Amino acid sequence: MTPAERYGPWALIAGASEGTGRAFAREIAAQGINCVLVARRREPLLAVAAEIQEESGVECVIATVDLAASDALDRIAAAVGDREIGLFVSNAGADPNGSHFLDRDIDVWMEQVNRNIGTLLRCCHHYGRQMRERGRGGLLIIGSGGCYGGGSFMSVYSASKAFQLCLAESLWAELEPHGVDVLFFALGATDTPALHSLLDKKGLPIPPGLASPADVAAMGLARLPHGPVRNWGTDDDVAGHAPNSPDARRARIRMIDEAAKRIFGAD
Ligand SMILES: NC(=O)c1ccc[n+]([C@@H]2O[C@H](COP(=O)([O-])OP(=O)(O)OC[C@H]3O[C@@H](n4cnc5c(N)ncnc54)[C@H](OP(=O)(O)O)[C@@H]3O)[C@@H](O)[C@H]2O)c1
Repeated sequence: MTPAERYGPWALIAGASEGTGRAFAREIAAQGINCVLVARRREPLLAVAAEIQEESGVECVIATVDLAASDALDRIAAAVGDREIGLFVSNAGADPNGSHFLDRDIDVWMEQVNRNIGTLLRCCHHYGRQMRERGRGGLLIIGSGGCYGGGSFMSVYSASKAFQLCLAESLWAELEPHGVDVLFFALGATDTPALHSLLDKKGLPIPPGLASPADVAAMGLARLPHGPVRNWGTDDDVAGHAPNSPDARRARIRMIDEAAKRIFGAD
């Protein structure tokens, strides 16, 4: 199947107005898949929609939604209407704070939990069910090497990415028999406006060797059928920052999956 047959006719990209989100939207549109673009700011979304329509000729719908709000899925679903979403890309997920846990109000961290965990769960549940029913589709969760361990300045970010990793692994095990692809794509430092803005805010220089959003998007889409995990910059049998390589994690999930099915039954 071509990507359009597998993941079309519409993709939903959460956090699509710049950086890797914009790059994913362009990459997906280049495959002939129409796009629903979500972010908080209207003008950048309109600019990406115009760019994509000009480049690829696909249809684009924009939705200004705060993914940290409790009604985020309702607002997304209203914008989607009866369009068939064959691909959900969860891109927005960076930490704009870079602070120690106790140095920020708890509301700041709860916003990140709501966006990275609450809304992600709701979207995967809502659109995942539709994909399972159709017997095809894709869930692509943009993660971070931060999922493999915490550290100073990383508390809620790392913890939310670890949640996303385990969620993606479980969904991969459950949805693979139904023809739905699931990938957690752990990025390394990537050249996005959000990273520039964080470093700028902290008076830090831009480090060398940042990944390009276009390369990240091409890799993410190419690896989506080969989940559940990809670590940017390493092959599947190389662990990198991960405690296990993607190959080792895949084998471990199979083992846990078998054990769980012995307890809960095959379905
Ligand atoms: N950049 C890196 O070095 C790096 C490294 C490892 C992993 N990653 C991962 O890559 C993904 C993208 O990162 P990024 O650096 O591009 O920054 P990001 O802030 O995660 O993504 C930026 C995009 O998300 C939108 N967005 C952010 N918060 C939102 C919210 N509450 N509601 C709706 N839209 C929201 C932004 O538009 P608006 O501002 O208009 O809402 C923009 O379109 C993240 O999941 C991150 O964890 C990035």
